[in-house]
Amino acid sequence: MTDLEQILSEARAKVAAATQAESLRAVDREYLGKEGVVAGLLAAIPTLEPSERRAAGQGANEVKTAVLEAIEERKAALAQEALSAQLSGEGFDPTLPGAVQRRGSLHPITQVTRELEDLFTSMGYSVLDGPEVELDHYNFEALNIPSDHPARDSQDTFFCDPEGHLVMRTHTSPVQVRAMEQLEPPFRAVAPGKVFRQETTDASHEHTFHQMEGLVVGKDISVGHLIGAMKTLLRGIFGRDLDVRLRPGYFPFVEPGFELDARCPFCEKGCSVCKRTTWIELLPCGLVHPNVLRMGGIDPDEWSGFAFGLGLSRLVMLRYGIDDVRHLLGGDLRFLEQF
Ligand code: PHE
Repeated sequence: MTDLEQILSEARAKVAAATQAESLRAVDREYLGKEGVVAGLLAAIPTLEPSERRAAGQGANEVKTAVLEAIEERKAALAQEALSAQLSGEGFDPTLPGAVQRRGSLHPITQVTRELEDLFTSMGYSVLDGPEVELDHYNFEALNIPSDHPARDSQDTFFCDPEGHLVMRTHTSPVQVRAMEQLEPPFRAVAPGKVFRQETTDASHEHTFHQMEGLVVGKDISVGHLIGAMKTLLRGIFGRDLDVRLRPGYFPFVEPGFELDARCPFCEKGCSVCKRTTWIELLPCGLVHPNVLRMGGIDPDEWSGFAFGLGLSRLVMLRYGIDDVRHLLGGDLRFLEQF
């Protein structure tokens, strides 16, 4: 009996001393293996007095169970230790190279669109959407461009049906009319999106590009409100105040209509971006024509408004110094990964 107790306490001491799975396996082999201590005890039973055999067998089995239990317990404890060591940073080598994750990025048009949406919503504008395949009525007619109007020629329209009722919208201005139909004045709204023109493409012309329409309808809206809003827009885009100037511009749906220029944000004395003029053409705009208000269901005697058509593609090119508009929708990852 004392022998067995001694064997067991030695085995437990060895189990406790094992600090690694390998040394634990060695203890397992030593005691429970084919040639192990327990096997030796069992093999010795036939040499004993018959009266002692039963007790010896029981004793050997108890040792076996106890050693096995001790090993399993120690194994679990070691695993736990290894885990907490890992979690606490021990054995963690921060200098090993990690698994490389390729990250995508948002298209520069999307980035600038989101930025401007944030800016305009902070000024109380809603962000609206409109169909890219548009009715002639919204793209032209309700914008004061009747079917015989020469302004239609300048719009290089893609037609979607032989009768010409459906067109790929040539500008985001149709959303002005849809907004007037849907919203109760006073309201402010912007509408970013794709527009399409049947152009011969080159570095500054693309058949598909992006605009952001703006429309504000209220009481006694004046050119002063328009200029104020555009200066805020410039501050949002370029991060500082820039002087603006208005030149007359003709669009059938605004009266008066303007081309708004801003002082070149990139130079003082003239550079390649402003073509040495220190002014950059920013956007066409104007006061909403009374006919357009009327066709949108708004009484021009009671309400007035201003509208602008920001060229998003142009703005993105200015901002990032992109020299060819065709890069924007070219789908070349080497270009897109730079943003
Ligand atoms: N829709 C016009 C265009 O793309 C731009 C514009 C918008 C002009 C709003 C005035 C007011 O040509």
